[in-house]
Amino acid sequence: MANKTVTLTDNSTGKTTELPLLNGTCGTPVLDVRSLNKELGCFTFDPGFKATASCQSEITYLDGAKGELLYRGYPIEQLAEQCSFLEVCYLLLHGELPNEQARDEFVANISSHTMINEGLRVFLDGFRYDAHPMAIMTGVVGSLSAFYHDSLNIYDPEQRMMTAHRLIAKMPTIAAAAYKHSIGEPAMYPRNDLSYTGNFLYMMWGRPTEAYEPDPVAEKALDVLFLLHADHEQNASTSTVRLAGSSQTNPFGAIAAGTASLWGPAHGGANEAVLRMLDEIGSVSNIDKFLARAKDKNDPFRLMGFGHRVYKNFDPRAKIIKKMAHKVLENYGDDPRMELALHLEEIARKDDYFVKRNLYPNVDFYSGIIYQALGIPYNMFTVMFTIGRTVGWIAHWMEMVSDPKMVIGRPRQLYTGHGPRDVPSLKKR
Ligand code: ACO
Repeated sequence: MANKTVTLTDNSTGKTTELPLLNGTCGTPVLDVRSLNKELGCFTFDPGFKATASCQSEITYLDGAKGELLYRGYPIEQLAEQCSFLEVCYLLLHGELPNEQARDEFVANISSHTMINEGLRVFLDGFRYDAHPMAIMTGVVGSLSAFYHDSLNIYDPEQRMMTAHRLIAKMPTIAAAAYKHSIGEPAMYPRNDLSYTGNFLYMMWGRPTEAYEPDPVAEKALDVLFLLHADHEQNASTSTVRLAGSSQTNPFGAIAAGTASLWGPAHGGANEAVLRMLDEIGSVSNIDKFLARAKDKNDPFRLMGFGHRVYKNFDPRAKIIKKMAHKVLENYGDDPRMELALHLEEIARKDDYFVKRNLYPNVDFYSGIIYQALGIPYNMFTVMFTIGRTVGWIAHWMEMVSDPKMVIGRPRQLYTGHGPRDVPSLKKR
């Protein structure tokens, strides 16, 4: 993989080392610094991992400059057009798209795991009525390790796959149960005669007292949204899952850590923040005022749903979601926030501040408008992201754990605290 090297010299000692430059299948080459401490006696310093590849991976590739996203080599646009979310789950877990038979077996397998242990339903009931659903998700996902002891051996590939199937299958059940808890309605048991997304809609909107059939427009829109959120290489939550998992903890614990990371407004929580921001802006006439705030370095306000660590071009997922938002609104009726979002995007993309910094709408900018059209409340938006991203987290966790060279993740630091000193007696402090 390495055909070039980079020579580094420590000017104070004159010592030199050659570091291999590694080339992946696509993308920026990576300098292998593993021998640096041994050779030159120093570490690298890169807060936020802005210039650091934390691992080697075969799952997802994204080119931020081109605005390109590939799952296992397939462009996201083609997958969204031609595949279902569960086919993409199979692709991420197994590396190839399923044929018809493999797809049917996979769908049947996932369906067979949609129920949650009855004990978990009691656990869910213990949360306060106004708990944020992401708080419930984080807690309940972590607690799965207390219920599914037969799939906790991380070195057994069959148990790993069993955990993958369980997590993909149970996330919608837990998510819908969290929602039902917040509105004081009974959690619905899953219906395995429905599609993955259809069943989720049923568990969200169905009631034991009446019949419910999911609307195909909503079913398709959510399926595409789950697919678009399924993976995004080494983002904060996936890196969290990898770091937590690298200690050989059980997968449910690692995925719970990823869920907690996703909740933050700089990551998966942004979709909720976008809608709150649009409500606050209120009308097109206020856009300039809010843009000025976003540009003011003394104001913590940022344009939510704009900007991305890697994309310095239009996020390809946002393009698909924007189109889909129009389609969904045609069916469910206009939302004035769509007009507002379109104006905001247009004005921001002509503004020097955003142009110079390559700040474009990201995946979260238009997704909330679709969720709202489907009746999904704000505090469930990040939960929707969690359902989609679960498969990506597991695919990365499986890739890491199945590597015989896996080591615990343990970054170093640049220490700037006190040097060694003696503890003074109580009277002298
Ligand atoms: N509004 C205003 N200014 C912004 C924004 C924004 N949304 N995003 C970045 N900037 C500015 C920064 O202030 C910085 O300006 P400077 O160079 O003058 O200091 C410059 O653009 C670069 O931004 P960074 O913060 O260095 O970029 P980083 O890669 O660290 O952050 C992030 C990326 C967190 C996504 C950021 O763009 C942001 O906060 N966006 C809003 C929140 C959001 O939408 N998050 C969802 C991301 S997608 C996802 O996780 C699914």
